[in-house]
Amino acid sequence: MAKPLYRAIDGTQDFFDRDVERFDKVINFAADMFARYGYARIRTPIFEATELFSRSIGAVTDIVEKEMYTFKPGSESITLRPEGTAGTVRAYLQHGLDNQGGLVKLWYDGPMFRRERPQKGRKRQFHQIGVEAIGSADPLLDAEVITMGLRYYESLGIADVGLRLNSIGCRNEDCRPKFRRLLREAIQPNLEKYCKSCQTRFERNVLRIIDCKDENCQRLNQDLPKSYDHLCGECADHFEKVKEGVTALGGAYVVDHSLVRGLDYYARSVFEYTHGSLGAQSAIGGGGRYDGLVEELGGKETPAVGFALGVERILIALEAANACACSYPLQVYGVTQGEAAHRAMAGLLARLRAAGFSADMDYDGKSLKAQMRTANRRQALCCLILGDDELGRGEVTLKRMGEAGGQEAVSLFDSIEAVRKAVSWGV
Ligand code: HAM
Repeated sequence: MAKPLYRAIDGTQDFFDRDVERFDKVINFAADMFARYGYARIRTPIFEATELFSRSIGAVTDIVEKEMYTFKPGSESITLRPEGTAGTVRAYLQHGLDNQGGLVKLWYDGPMFRRERPQKGRKRQFHQIGVEAIGSADPLLDAEVITMGLRYYESLGIADVGLRLNSIGCRNEDCRPKFRRLLREAIQPNLEKYCKSCQTRFERNVLRIIDCKDENCQRLNQDLPKSYDHLCGECADHFEKVKEGVTALGGAYVVDHSLVRGLDYYARSVFEYTHGSLGAQSAIGGGGRYDGLVEELGGKETPAVGFALGVERILIALEAANACACSYPLQVYGVTQGEAAHRAMAGLLARLRAAGFSADMDYDGKSLKAQMRTANRRQALCCLILGDDELGRGEVTLKRMGEAGGQEAVSLFDSIEAVRKAVSWGV
Protein backbone atom coordinates (compact mmCIF):
# COMPACT_ATOMS: atom_id res chain seq x y z
CA MET A 1 0.00 0.00 0.00
CA ALA A 2 1.32 3.46 -0.90
CA LYS A 3 2.40 5.50 2.12
CA PRO A 4 0.31 8.66 2.27
CA LEU A 5 2.16 11.97 2.42
CA TYR A 6 -0.41 13.48 4.76
CA ARG A 7 -2.56 12.25 7.60
CA ALA A 8 -5.57 13.89 9.24
CA ILE A 9 -4.58 16.16 12.12
CA ASP A 10 -4.56 14.42 15.52
CA GLY A 11 -7.98 14.64 17.11
CA THR A 12 -9.82 14.93 13.79
CA GLN A 13 -11.57 12.10 12.02
CA ASP A 14 -12.67 10.90 8.58
CA PHE A 15 -16.12 9.32 8.36
CA PHE A 16 -16.94 6.73 5.74
CA ASP A 17 -20.00 5.04 4.39
CA ARG A 18 -21.80 3.31 7.28
CA ASP A 19 -20.45 5.83 9.80
CA VAL A 20 -21.74 8.70 7.64
CA GLU A 21 -25.14 6.99 7.47
CA ARG A 22 -25.19 6.61 11.25
CA PHE A 23 -24.05 10.19 11.64
CA ASP A 24 -26.87 11.42 9.37
CA LYS A 25 -29.37 9.29 11.22
CA VAL A 26 -28.28 10.79 14.54
CA ILE A 27 -28.91 14.27 13.09
CA ASN A 28 -32.19 13.30 11.39
CA PHE A 29 -33.58 11.78 14.59
CA ALA A 30 -32.70 15.02 16.38
CA ALA A 31 -34.43 17.09 13.67
CA ASP A 32 -37.55 14.96 14.05
CA MET A 33 -37.60 14.96 17.86
CA PHE A 34 -36.76 18.64 18.37
CA ALA A 35 -39.36 19.76 15.82
CA ARG A 36 -41.97 17.93 17.90
CA TYR A 37 -40.95 20.08 20.88
CA GLY A 38 -41.23 23.28 18.83
CA TYR A 39 -37.57 23.99 18.02
CA ALA A 40 -36.61 25.80 14.81
CA ARG A 41 -33.27 25.17 13.19
CA ILE A 42 -30.42 27.68 13.16
CA ARG A 43 -27.03 27.55 11.47
CA THR A 44 -24.37 30.00 12.64
CA PRO A 45 -20.80 30.58 11.37
CA ILE A 46 -17.99 28.26 12.38
CA PHE A 47 -15.84 31.20 13.47
CA GLU A 48 -16.76 34.25 15.52
CA ALA A 49 -15.02 37.14 17.28
CA THR A 50 -12.75 35.72 19.99
CA GLU A 51 -14.25 38.07 22.54
CA LEU A 52 -17.70 36.53 22.09
CA PHE A 53 -16.33 33.28 23.52
CA SER A 54 -14.12 34.71 26.26
CA ARG A 55 -17.04 36.81 27.44
CA SER A 56 -19.63 34.00 27.30
CA ILE A 57 -17.70 30.93 28.36
CA GLY A 58 -15.54 32.91 30.80
CA ALA A 59 -11.94 34.11 30.56
CA VAL A 60 -10.86 31.81 33.40
CA THR A 61 -12.04 28.49 31.98
CA ASP A 62 -10.01 25.66 30.44
CA ILE A 63 -11.71 26.22 27.10
CA VAL A 64 -10.82 29.91 26.83
CA GLU A 65 -7.43 29.70 28.54
CA LYS A 66 -5.95 26.84 26.55
CA GLU A 67 -8.28 25.09 24.14
CA MET A 68 -9.41 27.63 21.56
CA TYR A 69 -8.17 27.79 17.97
CA THR A 70 -7.63 31.51 17.71
CA PHE A 71 -6.00 33.40 14.86
CA LYS A 72 -5.59 36.94 13.72
CA PRO A 73 -5.67 37.17 9.94
CA GLY A 74 -6.10 40.97 10.06
CA SER A 75 -6.73 43.37 12.88
CA GLU A 76 -9.45 41.36 14.60
CA SER A 77 -8.96 38.16 16.55
CA ILE A 78 -11.25 35.31 15.50
CA THR A 79 -11.81 31.85 16.97
CA LEU A 80 -13.16 28.54 15.67
CA ARG A 81 -16.24 28.00 17.80
CA PRO A 82 -15.62 25.68 20.75
CA GLU A 83 -19.38 25.37 21.38
CA GLY A 84 -22.70 26.58 19.99
CA THR A 85 -24.47 28.54 22.72
CA ALA A 86 -22.48 31.79 22.38
CA GLY A 87 -23.03 32.02 18.60
CA THR A 88 -26.72 31.18 18.96
CA VAL A 89 -27.29 33.93 21.54
CA ARG A 90 -25.25 36.35 19.40
CA ALA A 91 -27.50 35.54 16.41
CA TYR A 92 -30.65 35.77 18.57
CA LEU A 93 -29.71 39.33 19.52
CA GLN A 94 -28.31 40.38 16.14
CA HIS A 95 -31.50 39.40 14.32
CA GLY A 96 -33.86 40.89 16.90
CA LEU A 97 -35.42 37.57 17.95
CA ASP A 98 -35.61 39.13 21.42
CA ASN A 99 -38.21 41.57 20.06
CA GLN A 100 -40.65 38.79 19.13
CA GLY A 101 -41.63 38.48 22.78
CA GLY A 102 -41.84 35.18 24.59
CA LEU A 103 -39.88 32.02 24.29
CA VAL A 104 -37.63 31.33 21.28
CA LYS A 105 -36.59 27.70 20.77
CA LEU A 106 -33.63 27.02 18.47
CA TRP A 107 -31.58 23.94 17.64
CA TYR A 108 -28.37 23.41 15.69
CA ASP A 109 -25.79 20.85 14.74
CA GLY A 110 -22.28 21.19 13.45
CA PRO A 111 -18.56 20.93 14.10
CA MET A 112 -16.95 22.48 17.18
CA PHE A 113 -13.23 22.87 17.89
CA ARG A 114 -11.27 22.49 21.11
CA ARG A 115 -7.53 21.88 21.44
CA GLU A 116 -7.91 19.15 24.03
CA ARG A 117 -5.62 16.14 24.41
CA PRO A 118 -7.20 13.60 22.04
CA GLN A 119 -8.42 10.29 23.44
CA LYS A 120 -11.43 8.00 23.10
CA GLY A 121 -14.47 10.23 22.75
CA ARG A 122 -12.38 13.39 22.95
CA LYS A 123 -11.59 15.06 19.64
CA ARG A 124 -10.26 18.40 18.55
CA GLN A 125 -12.89 18.70 15.86
CA PHE A 126 -16.07 17.14 17.17
CA HIS A 127 -19.76 17.61 16.44
CA GLN A 128 -22.59 18.73 18.65
CA ILE A 129 -26.34 18.74 18.44
CA GLY A 130 -27.63 21.55 20.63
CA VAL A 131 -30.87 23.19 21.72
CA GLU A 132 -31.36 26.62 23.23
CA ALA A 133 -34.69 27.74 24.73
CA ILE A 134 -34.36 31.48 25.28
CA GLY A 135 -36.88 33.65 27.14
CA SER A 136 -38.37 31.74 30.07
CA ALA A 137 -37.35 30.96 33.64
CA ASP A 138 -40.11 28.35 34.10
CA PRO A 139 -38.59 25.30 35.85
CA LEU A 140 -40.92 23.14 33.79
CA LEU A 141 -38.96 24.29 30.73
CA ASP A 142 -35.72 22.99 32.32
CA ALA A 143 -37.54 19.70 32.92
CA GLU A 144 -38.82 19.61 29.34
CA VAL A 145 -35.34 20.26 27.93
CA ILE A 146 -33.70 17.70 30.23
CA THR A 147 -36.21 14.94 29.49
CA MET A 148 -36.23 15.72 25.76
CA GLY A 149 -32.53 14.76 25.79
CA LEU A 150 -33.39 11.48 27.49
CA ARG A 151 -36.20 10.77 24.99
CA TYR A 152 -33.80 11.48 22.15
CA TYR A 153 -31.21 8.95 23.32
CA GLU A 154 -34.02 6.40 23.79
CA SER A 155 -35.29 7.02 20.27
CA LEU A 156 -31.85 6.07 18.93
CA GLY A 157 -31.84 2.86 20.96
CA ILE A 158 -29.28 4.01 23.55
CA ALA A 159 -30.49 2.68 26.89
CA ASP A 160 -29.06 3.30 30.36
CA VAL A 161 -28.26 6.96 29.93
CA GLY A 162 -27.55 8.42 33.37
CA LEU A 163 -28.64 11.92 34.34
CA ARG A 164 -26.66 14.01 36.85
CA LEU A 165 -28.40 17.10 38.09
CA ASN A 166 -27.32 20.02 40.26
CA SER A 167 -28.08 23.67 40.90
CA ILE A 168 -25.24 26.17 41.19
CA GLY A 169 -27.48 29.08 42.15
CA CYS A 170 -27.56 32.62 40.81
CA ARG A 171 -25.54 35.83 40.97
CA ASN A 172 -27.44 37.24 43.99
CA GLU A 173 -25.13 38.07 46.86
CA ASP A 174 -26.80 35.55 49.19
CA CYS A 175 -26.55 32.73 46.63
CA ARG A 176 -23.47 31.77 44.56
CA PRO A 177 -21.13 34.53 45.84
CA LYS A 178 -21.95 33.43 49.41
CA PHE A 179 -21.38 29.77 48.47
CA ARG A 180 -18.02 30.65 46.88
CA ARG A 181 -16.93 32.29 50.13
CA LEU A 182 -18.02 29.24 52.16
CA LEU A 183 -16.13 27.00 49.77
CA ARG A 184 -12.92 29.03 50.06
CA GLU A 185 -13.18 28.97 53.85
CA ALA A 186 -13.58 25.19 53.79
CA ILE A 187 -10.72 24.60 51.33
CA GLN A 188 -8.21 27.11 52.72
CA PRO A 189 -6.87 24.96 55.61
CA ASN A 190 -6.02 22.13 53.16
CA LEU A 191 -5.09 24.18 50.14
CA GLU A 192 -1.49 22.99 50.06
CA LYS A 193 -2.63 19.37 49.79
CA TYR A 194 -4.58 20.09 46.58
CA CYS A 195 -3.11 19.61 43.08
CA LYS A 196 -1.39 22.53 41.33
CA SER A 197 -4.41 23.23 39.06
CA CYS A 198 -6.74 23.43 42.06
CA GLN A 199 -4.38 25.80 43.82
CA THR A 200 -4.60 28.21 40.89
CA ARG A 201 -8.38 27.66 40.67
CA PHE A 202 -8.73 28.66 44.33
CA GLU A 203 -8.58 32.39 43.62
CA ARG A 204 -9.73 32.43 40.03
CA ASN A 205 -12.52 29.86 39.76
CA VAL A 206 -13.04 28.09 43.05
CA LEU A 207 -16.17 26.17 41.93
CA ARG A 208 -14.06 24.13 39.51
CA ILE A 209 -12.14 22.61 42.43
CA ILE A 210 -15.30 20.62 43.20
CA ASP A 211 -15.13 18.65 39.94
CA CYS A 212 -11.36 18.04 39.90
CA LYS A 213 -10.70 14.48 38.70
CA ASP A 214 -7.52 14.02 40.78
CA GLU A 215 -8.15 11.25 43.34
CA ASN A 216 -6.45 13.08 46.18
CA CYS A 217 -8.45 16.27 45.50
CA GLN A 218 -11.65 14.20 45.34
CA ARG A 219 -10.87 12.79 48.78
CA LEU A 220 -10.24 16.28 50.16
CA ASN A 221 -13.49 17.44 48.56
CA GLN A 222 -15.67 14.92 50.37
CA ASP A 223 -16.61 17.22 53.24
CA LEU A 224 -17.01 20.44 51.29
CA PRO A 225 -20.29 22.36 51.51
CA LYS A 226 -22.75 21.47 48.75
CA SER A 227 -24.14 24.16 46.46
CA TYR A 228 -27.74 22.94 46.73
CA ASP A 229 -27.64 23.38 50.52
CA HIS A 230 -26.74 27.07 50.15
CA LEU A 231 -29.08 28.36 47.44
CA CYS A 232 -31.08 31.56 47.89
CA GLY A 233 -34.82 31.02 48.47
CA GLU A 234 -35.79 31.52 44.81
CA CYS A 235 -33.09 29.21 43.46
CA ALA A 236 -33.94 26.53 46.04
CA ASP A 237 -37.60 26.70 44.99
CA HIS A 238 -36.62 26.58 41.30
CA PHE A 239 -34.43 23.51 41.85
CA GLU A 240 -37.21 21.67 43.70
CA LYS A 241 -39.60 22.36 40.82
CA VAL A 242 -37.05 21.24 38.20
CA LYS A 243 -36.61 17.93 40.02
CA GLU A 244 -40.39 17.47 40.37
CA GLY A 245 -40.81 18.29 36.69
CA VAL A 246 -38.15 15.81 35.55
CA THR A 247 -39.79 13.08 37.61
CA ALA A 248 -43.26 13.99 36.33
CA LEU A 249 -41.96 13.77 32.74
CA GLY A 250 -40.52 10.32 33.35
CA GLY A 251 -36.84 11.11 33.89
CA ALA A 252 -34.67 9.43 36.54
CA TYR A 253 -31.82 11.56 37.92
CA VAL A 254 -29.12 11.63 40.54
CA VAL A 255 -28.40 14.92 42.31
CA ASP A 256 -24.64 15.39 42.18
CA HIS A 257 -23.09 18.38 43.95
CA SER A 258 -19.77 17.85 42.17
CA LEU A 259 -21.34 18.79 38.84
CA VAL A 260 -20.40 22.43 38.21
CA ARG A 261 -19.67 22.32 34.41
CA GLY A 262 -16.75 23.91 32.63
CA LEU A 263 -18.44 27.00 31.22
CA ASP A 264 -19.06 30.13 33.27
CA TYR A 265 -22.40 31.21 31.82
CA TYR A 266 -24.44 28.76 33.85
CA ALA A 267 -26.83 29.69 36.63
CA ARG A 268 -29.24 27.47 38.58
CA SER A 269 -29.81 24.09 36.88
CA VAL A 270 -26.86 22.20 35.41
CA PHE A 271 -27.01 18.64 34.13
CA GLU A 272 -25.03 16.00 32.33
CA TYR A 273 -26.04 12.82 30.51
CA THR A 274 -23.62 9.94 31.01
CA HIS A 275 -23.11 6.58 29.33
CA GLY A 276 -21.04 3.63 30.52
CA SER A 277 -19.52 2.90 27.10
CA LEU A 278 -17.52 6.11 27.11
CA GLY A 279 -14.91 5.42 29.81
CA ALA A 280 -13.25 8.53 31.20
CA GLN A 281 -15.18 10.85 28.89
CA SER A 282 -18.51 9.63 30.18
CA ALA A 283 -20.50 12.79 29.37
CA ILE A 284 -22.53 12.03 26.28
CA GLY A 285 -24.19 15.44 26.59
CA GLY A 286 -24.62 18.32 28.98
CA GLY A 287 -26.27 21.64 29.54
CA GLY A 288 -27.97 23.94 31.93
CA ARG A 289 -29.59 27.29 32.53
CA TYR A 290 -27.72 30.45 31.53
CA ASP A 291 -29.95 33.27 32.75
CA GLY A 292 -27.26 35.99 32.61
CA LEU A 293 -25.78 35.37 29.16
CA VAL A 294 -28.19 37.31 26.94
CA GLU A 295 -27.68 40.38 29.11
CA GLU A 296 -23.91 39.83 29.16
CA LEU A 297 -23.94 39.97 25.36
CA GLY A 298 -25.88 43.24 25.25
CA GLY A 299 -29.52 42.14 25.47
CA LYS A 300 -32.23 42.56 28.07
CA GLU A 301 -32.29 40.33 31.13
CA THR A 302 -33.46 37.06 29.57
CA PRO A 303 -33.51 33.62 31.21
CA ALA A 304 -32.54 30.65 29.01
CA VAL A 305 -31.75 26.96 29.15
CA GLY A 306 -30.24 24.43 26.74
CA PHE A 307 -27.98 21.47 26.13
CA ALA A 308 -25.50 20.08 23.65
CA LEU A 309 -24.93 16.41 22.85
CA GLY A 310 -21.66 15.06 21.47
CA VAL A 311 -22.23 13.23 18.18
CA GLU A 312 -18.96 11.23 18.30
CA ARG A 313 -19.89 10.04 21.79
CA ILE A 314 -23.40 9.11 20.64
CA LEU A 315 -21.80 7.04 17.86
CA ILE A 316 -19.62 5.20 20.41
CA ALA A 317 -22.69 4.50 22.57
CA LEU A 318 -24.62 3.28 19.52
CA GLU A 319 -21.82 0.93 18.60
CA ALA A 320 -21.68 -0.42 22.16
CA ALA A 321 -25.45 -0.88 22.27
CA ASN A 322 -25.34 -2.46 18.84
CA ALA A 323 -28.29 -0.19 18.22
CA CYS A 324 -29.45 1.66 15.15
CA ALA A 325 -28.37 -0.81 12.49
CA CYS A 326 -29.14 1.98 10.13
CA SER A 327 -26.96 1.04 7.20
CA TYR A 328 -29.05 1.41 4.05
CA PRO A 329 -28.40 -1.86 2.20
CA LEU A 330 -27.37 -2.02 -1.39
CA GLN A 331 -30.30 -3.53 -3.26
CA VAL A 332 -28.66 -4.71 -6.45
CA TYR A 333 -25.08 -5.61 -7.34
CA GLY A 334 -24.31 -6.10 -11.04
CA VAL A 335 -21.87 -8.93 -11.79
CA THR A 336 -20.54 -9.24 -15.34
CA GLN A 337 -18.25 -11.28 -17.55
CA GLY A 338 -17.23 -9.86 -20.91
CA GLU A 339 -17.02 -6.37 -22.29
CA ALA A 340 -20.44 -6.16 -23.94
CA ALA A 341 -22.08 -7.44 -20.74
CA HIS A 342 -20.15 -4.87 -18.69
CA ARG A 343 -21.48 -2.03 -20.88
CA ALA A 344 -25.01 -3.43 -20.89
CA MET A 345 -24.95 -3.73 -17.07
CA ALA A 346 -24.04 -0.03 -16.76
CA GLY A 347 -27.20 0.80 -18.76
CA LEU A 348 -29.33 -1.63 -16.74
CA LEU A 349 -28.13 -0.18 -13.42
CA ALA A 350 -28.90 3.34 -14.66
CA ARG A 351 -32.51 2.22 -15.34
CA LEU A 352 -32.71 0.54 -11.92
CA ARG A 353 -31.44 3.67 -10.17
CA ALA A 354 -33.93 5.80 -12.09
CA ALA A 355 -36.63 3.40 -10.85
CA GLY A 356 -35.50 4.12 -7.26
CA PHE A 357 -33.23 1.15 -6.47
CA SER A 358 -29.74 1.43 -4.99
CA ALA A 359 -27.43 -0.38 -7.37
CA ASP A 360 -23.70 -0.70 -8.02
CA MET A 361 -21.21 -2.84 -9.96
CA ASP A 362 -17.51 -3.59 -10.32
CA TYR A 363 -15.25 -1.25 -12.29
CA ASP A 364 -11.94 -3.00 -11.60
CA GLY A 365 -12.19 -5.93 -14.04
CA LYS A 366 -12.41 -8.42 -11.14
CA SER A 367 -13.13 -12.14 -11.64
CA LEU A 368 -16.69 -13.44 -11.25
CA LYS A 369 -15.81 -14.94 -7.87
CA ALA A 370 -14.29 -11.69 -6.62
CA GLN A 371 -17.35 -9.73 -7.80
CA MET A 372 -19.60 -12.12 -5.85
CA ARG A 373 -17.43 -11.61 -2.78
CA THR A 374 -17.88 -7.84 -3.14
CA ALA A 375 -21.66 -8.31 -3.41
CA ASN A 376 -21.59 -10.27 -0.14
CA ARG A 377 -19.36 -7.74 1.61
CA ARG A 378 -21.68 -4.93 0.54
CA GLN A 379 -24.66 -6.94 1.76
CA ALA A 380 -26.47 -6.62 -1.56
CA LEU A 381 -30.00 -7.99 -1.46
CA CYS A 382 -29.67 -9.48 -4.93
CA CYS A 383 -27.23 -9.78 -7.83
CA LEU A 384 -27.85 -9.47 -11.52
CA ILE A 385 -25.33 -11.71 -13.27
CA LEU A 386 -24.70 -11.09 -16.95
CA GLY A 387 -22.29 -12.70 -19.41
CA ASP A 388 -21.92 -11.95 -23.11
CA ASP A 389 -23.76 -15.21 -23.98
CA GLU A 390 -26.75 -14.39 -21.82
CA LEU A 391 -26.78 -10.90 -23.24
CA GLY A 392 -27.04 -12.48 -26.70
CA ARG A 393 -30.15 -14.38 -25.53
CA GLY A 394 -31.64 -11.22 -23.99
CA GLU A 395 -31.47 -12.71 -20.49
CA VAL A 396 -29.88 -12.01 -17.12
CA THR A 397 -29.54 -14.20 -14.02
CA LEU A 398 -31.14 -12.84 -10.89
CA LYS A 399 -29.65 -14.28 -7.72
CA ARG A 400 -31.18 -13.65 -4.32
CA MET A 401 -28.59 -13.24 -1.60
CA GLY A 402 -28.82 -14.10 2.08
CA GLU A 403 -31.33 -16.53 3.48
CA ALA A 404 -33.86 -16.13 0.66
CA GLY A 405 -31.36 -17.72 -1.78
CA GLY A 406 -32.16 -19.15 -5.23
CA GLN A 407 -31.58 -17.87 -8.71
CA GLU A 408 -33.45 -17.72 -12.00
CA ALA A 409 -32.96 -16.50 -15.56
CA VAL A 410 -35.20 -13.55 -16.37
CA SER A 411 -35.61 -11.64 -19.59
CA LEU A 412 -33.69 -8.37 -19.66
CA PHE A 413 -36.94 -6.70 -20.58
CA ASP A 414 -38.58 -7.85 -17.30
CA SER A 415 -35.51 -7.44 -15.10
CA ILE A 416 -36.64 -4.32 -13.24
CA GLU A 417 -39.92 -5.96 -12.24
CA ALA A 418 -38.04 -9.11 -11.20
CA VAL A 419 -35.67 -7.03 -9.04
CA ARG A 420 -38.65 -5.28 -7.47
CA LYS A 421 -40.08 -8.65 -6.39
CA ALA A 422 -36.73 -9.99 -5.20
CA VAL A 423 -35.98 -6.88 -3.19
CA SER A 424 -39.35 -6.73 -1.48
CA TRP A 425 -38.88 -10.36 -0.50
CA GLY A 426 -35.43 -9.71 0.82
CA VAL A 427 -36.28 -6.72 3.02
P1 HAM B 1 -20.18 20.90 26.94
O1 HAM B 1 -20.45 20.08 28.14
O2 HAM B 1 -18.87 21.62 26.87
O3 HAM B 1 -21.39 21.93 26.82
O4 HAM B 1 -20.30 19.99 25.66
C1 HAM B 1 -21.47 19.23 25.42
C2 HAM B 1 -21.10 17.84 24.93
O5 HAM B 1 -20.24 17.92 23.79
C3 HAM B 1 -20.28 17.00 25.92
O6 HAM B 1 -21.13 16.40 26.87
C4 HAM B 1 -19.66 15.97 25.00
O7 HAM B 1 -20.60 14.95 24.70
C5 HAM B 1 -19.39 16.79 23.75
N1 HAM B 1 -17.98 17.21 23.73
C6 HAM B 1 -17.42 18.27 24.35
N2 HAM B 1 -16.11 18.33 24.10
C7 HAM B 1 -15.81 17.30 23.28
C8 HAM B 1 -14.62 16.81 22.63
N3 HAM B 1 -13.44 17.43 22.77
N4 HAM B 1 -14.70 15.71 21.85
C9 HAM B 1 -15.89 15.07 21.68
N5 HAM B 1 -17.05 15.48 22.25
C10 HAM B 1 -17.02 16.58 23.04
C11 HAM B 1 -21.50 22.86 25.83
O8 HAM B 1 -20.81 22.89 24.84
C12 HAM B 1 -22.64 23.81 26.05
N6 HAM B 1 -22.67 24.77 24.93
C13 HAM B 1 -23.97 23.07 26.17
C14 HAM B 1 -25.13 23.98 26.36
C15 HAM B 1 -26.02 24.38 25.43
N7 HAM B 1 -25.47 24.55 27.50
C16 HAM B 1 -26.54 25.30 27.31
N8 HAM B 1 -26.88 25.23 26.05
